[in-house]
Amino acid sequence: MVRIGVLGVGTVGRAVVEILNENKEIITARSGEEIVVKSGVVRDVSKIADLDIMAGLDPYTLVNDPEIDIVVELMGGIELPFELHKLALKNGKAVVTANKALLAYHRYELQEIAGNIPFEFEASVAGGIPIINALRDGLSANHILSIRGIMNGTCNFMLSKMMKEGVCFDAVLSEAQSLGYAEADPTFDVGGFDAAHKLLILASIAYGIDAKPEEILIEGITGVTQEDISFAKEFGYTIKLLGIAKRDGSEVELRVHAALVKNEEMIAKIDGVMNGISVVGDRVGETLYYGAGAGGNATASAVVANIIDIVRSGKRSPMLGFNHPLEEGLTLKNPDTIVSKYYLRLRITDKPGILAQITQLFAGHTISVEAMIQRPSERECTQLLFATHETREYSIRNLINDLEKLEAVLDTPYMIRIV
Ligand code: NAP
Ligand code: HSE
Repeated sequence: MVRIGVLGVGTVGRAVVEILNENKEIITARSGEEIVVKSGVVRDVSKIADLDIMAGLDPYTLVNDPEIDIVVELMGGIELPFELHKLALKNGKAVVTANKALLAYHRYELQEIAGNIPFEFEASVAGGIPIINALRDGLSANHILSIRGIMNGTCNFMLSKMMKEGVCFDAVLSEAQSLGYAEADPTFDVGGFDAAHKLLILASIAYGIDAKPEEILIEGITGVTQEDISFAKEFGYTIKLLGIAKRDGSEVELRVHAALVKNEEMIAKIDGVMNGISVVGDRVGETLYYGAGAGGNATASAVVANIIDIVRSGKRSPMLGFNHPLEEGLTLKNPDTIVSKYYLRLRITDKPGILAQITQLFAGHTISVEAMIQRPSERECTQLLFATHETREYSIRNLINDLEKLEAVLDTPYMIRIV
């Protein structure tokens, strides 16, 4: 019999306990042994009184329990779980986690400490989709050229509803929270940080690159308005929060931001809490992964799969899938040098000559306009919406700085990249 201890029995932890109980027969058949949840740790034990497990308040007691074989960490946070993971590994216990925030900062240290002790984290990226397995094992013969996709279920759920039903940002965020999709602090979702944590984990497996969230371009969806949505619809685009990792010579570009995606693209059709990630390998070509990116059951499906794998095969590290530096000399690309098309929204005072001043600034930064819409004026204010041809990130940023200095420009211009 294999005994599990669950640190954090909330949305995902509860679903893990339920799946292990309710799918017991098939899980025993697949793993070859009976798997039992011995205990769980929470802050309020009354919340798990209905589950048939020992409930405790002290995570250290669980991690030091000699009867526990596998520690499953589903409590969230960074430094406390890091201490607990280190202690569990020191005690020789296998570890399974869905905690991407922790891995975004400490994945290399944990790989080092884990050594040959199994450390699995499939649920940390894209919920129920086995993307880590695909990248670490299925595609391991390839140089990875790019990874691009929807990696945050909450944002995709919100953007889909905002686009299709015209629902406002705050209402749809509350709905995502009540469905168990959002992080404990939802600014991680809507600010793009959660998708960035996932992108960094994938980029480590694909490129061996050791970057921290602070080193990459991260923008969220908090600024997206119905005005941007109507522009997107008029020009055949959908708005998505994308995570992008792209190999460019000896550089790797890593970025997370809202993007206007052409409606014909597969990724534009991925709605609701679903995630979709495209991985291009130099030998296999493009592969695409789709499924539920958040929610208790979908995420727990990946956690339990990791547990079964450990019990069945005693799966050994290296946790990130490589022992030696993967590709020597690869560096992070400076975000200022990214090339993209851009959408810009400006709120201006509607006076003669303003448009000329604005277009002169575009020309001054050698940025060519592909499309422009002026909305009807309301109380002497109007919105100007532009789509540009390709330009460098630093050019668009300099343009925005200069536009902001114009007296007639009323707010900081809002920008979305067009991919
Ligand atoms: P959750 O519903 O907030 O559950 C967290 C659990 O951890 C609760 O049982 C909580 O206890 C417990 N906990 C937190 N801090 C604790 C502490 N200091 N001591 C003891 N217990 C503590 O979170 P979740 O949505 O299940 O997410 C868990 C992890 O999975 C996170 O790392 C998250 O990023 C990741 N994840 C979540 C999803 C998803 O769709 N929800 C998907 C993929 C990955 P109390 O309830 O008593 O406070
Ligand atoms: N909050 C995350 C999301 C959970 O919405 O994608 C899954 O990692």
